[in-house]
Amino acid sequence: MVVRAPPRRRGRPPAHFRALPGSPRDVSSTEVRSALALGRDVSGLLAPAVARFIEKRRLYGLRTLERLREDLSPARFEHTVHVAALAESLARRHGASPDAARTAGLLHDAGRRYRPHEVARYVRARAISVPERAKVLASDPMLAHAYVSADLARREFGVEDPEILGAIRRHTLGDARLSLLDKVLYVADACSLDRSHSSAAATRALAYEDLDEALRRCVAEKLVHAVGRDAWLHPLTVRLWNSLAGR
Ligand SMILES: [Fe+2]
Ligand SMILES: [Fe+2]
Repeated sequence: MVVRAPPRRRGRPPAHFRALPGSPRDVSSTEVRSALALGRDVSGLLAPAVARFIEKRRLYGLRTLERLREDLSPARFEHTVHVAALAESLARRHGASPDAARTAGLLHDAGRRYRPHEVARYVRARAISVPERAKVLASDPMLAHAYVSADLARREFGVEDPEILGAIRRHTLGDARLSLLDKVLYVADACSLDRSHSSAAATRALAYEDLDEALRRCVAEKLVHAVGRDAWLHPLTVRLWNSLAGR
């Protein structure tokens, strides 16, 4: 038995196949997987019985989403979903893996379930390697949340892909060299739909056209904000800026 996929593949199936009558919905499985993983309404995409089965078994990332909803504040959860959606979309535009970008986006702030002193305790207890660790934990432990998120992504959410874990780890402090996936996540985090600062929408639009320029703006804004607060600048962020300045 086969089903004709409209309207992409026409033609007749081989003689030993029997085509089912009727025309199926023109929905790709990629679209369905993405919608489920981002917690979107899939009633227009799936038959009710299939949607119920997926919901019951918590398939296609529903368990991850449920766990994040429990762990994070409502605002942080909303941010997480917006970052994941934008990262996926930017990845598709720039040739990175949409699935990897969505996963990185969903888990990038998993460590934000903790308060600053808990982040510091987690980093020490698990001996997590954070550059300038002593200074980070003394000045602003939340700067280390990305490293905690990557550790949680691996331990609790089963992510093994080093590219995804690296992007999560680098989304706050950056690094002198960023991969395409790193850039996608860094930019998506800085200008996701929930970000209210005045330049967020313009940076978001720019990110589709020129990801490097959008990244440069995001890092510049982060630095200006930190200097405005009289905050200590992490050397990785300074190195990232120096790699982008004057382009
Ligand atoms: Fe973060
Ligand atoms: Fe974030």
